[in-house]
Amino acid sequence: MNNFQYYNPVRIVFGEGEIAKLSELVPLEARVLITYGGGSAKRTGTLDEVKAALASNGNRQVFEFGGIEANPEFTTLLKAADSVNEHDIDFLLAVGGGSVIDGTKFIALVASMTEDDGKTVSREQAWEALTSGCRKLDKAIDLGAVLTIPATGSEMNSGGVINYSERKAKLPFGNPLVFPKFSILDPAKTLTLPERQVMNGVADAFVHVMEQYLTYPVNAKVQDAFAESLLKILIEEGRAVKADPTNMETRKNLMWTATMALNGLIGTGVPQDWTTHMIGHELTSLHAIDHARTLTIVLPSVMRELKDSKKDKLLQYARNVWNLDITSVNNQPTSDESADAIIEQAITETENFFRELGLPVNLVDAELDESAIEPIVQQLEAHKMTQLGEHRANDLEVSRRILQRAALVH
Ligand code: NZQ
Ligand code: ZN
Repeated sequence: MNNFQYYNPVRIVFGEGEIAKLSELVPLEARVLITYGGGSAKRTGTLDEVKAALASNGNRQVFEFGGIEANPEFTTLLKAADSVNEHDIDFLLAVGGGSVIDGTKFIALVASMTEDDGKTVSREQAWEALTSGCRKLDKAIDLGAVLTIPATGSEMNSGGVINYSERKAKLPFGNPLVFPKFSILDPAKTLTLPERQVMNGVADAFVHVMEQYLTYPVNAKVQDAFAESLLKILIEEGRAVKADPTNMETRKNLMWTATMALNGLIGTGVPQDWTTHMIGHELTSLHAIDHARTLTIVLPSVMRELKDSKKDKLLQYARNVWNLDITSVNNQPTSDESADAIIEQAITETENFFRELGLPVNLVDAELDESAIEPIVQQLEAHKMTQLGEHRANDLEVSRRILQRAALVH
């Protein structure tokens, strides 16, 4: 296991009806801006529930900013930052999924980058901060979250991803100042999700675990066993929620699993490989494909293309997640051929699972062909994604080969 520090200050408040706790969690005298998305929070009544909880105690002044898009838009978030400075907001409350929470983290940072007159900095300065990952910013407004879709883990981490359509860029950022002060996880809130979003959430969490797990062994037993458990739970509960979307026990387990998948715990002290996500971001910005679907398109091809460098972990994955017998294929457990066969079987199991959930597993499923590949490679280059992977060995040629595999139907 590698050396590490682990720090996660997010208070998780989990359970049905826990939105009422906002009355205690948000400072009593705060000037609060509630941020939300395209309307689901309003439609489902969650926004009213949030406002009622805030009004039940203290002297808070409450403002609202709605309309944060799925794949939150840079320009929208700058408008929100203006609103923060105009109303002298000192607490942000995100009500929604990864897009709203990520967007709110960015608002928290950008709104704190003010000119002498108290106004938000220019678009160019904000863009510069984003392209350098926001790591050097030293101020942020406090924020909390009410999560309405289990998927990203944003509710318990300090990162986010922002989309800037005009520049065809979707870029990650991170800063410890934007760990939420708290996140409320009410599994009942997920019952209003369309099936597509539920399945997207399962897949996103699954791939988050894979990107922290599928590298090379460093004898990190806790991280490996946790990761494998999370994957097995996602397979079981992903199938269960598809069969019976009303089961609250399933919803509870899915919500906590997705949070655990990206709160830093399983990624401590181990190598990581975010290749699938980085290629996926380009697919979203060029072709407007849902985040999770870009991942299920790319991951099988990443596994196939990198099967040699990931061989040990792929075999471990085959045995511990898919219960494949890695000692007995053709009675030749150690031969390269039998290892390859087991690895291919584990990849096929992964694809079949994604397909069961109605997710695409290659470019063809997303109605794209080989002509999509070069523009994606060019965008990877433009965004300096030229040394991906746990060995930083995935250059543009490797990414091109991954995409070429994704253009084939297996
Ligand atoms: O916009 P509204 O109307 O609210 O509708 C949303 C949206 O259309 C809807 N929705 C959310 N909760 C609902 C609901 N509909 C009915 N009932 C509810 N309870 O679901 C749609 C998707 O929402 P979104 O927030 O976009 O989904 P998700 O949580 O999957 O977030 C995706 C974003 O997170 C980023 C992705 O790149 C993408 O931009 N990620 C953030 C990460 C992080 N911060 O650590 C890591 C991830 O890898 C991911 O990249
Ligand atoms: Zn993701």
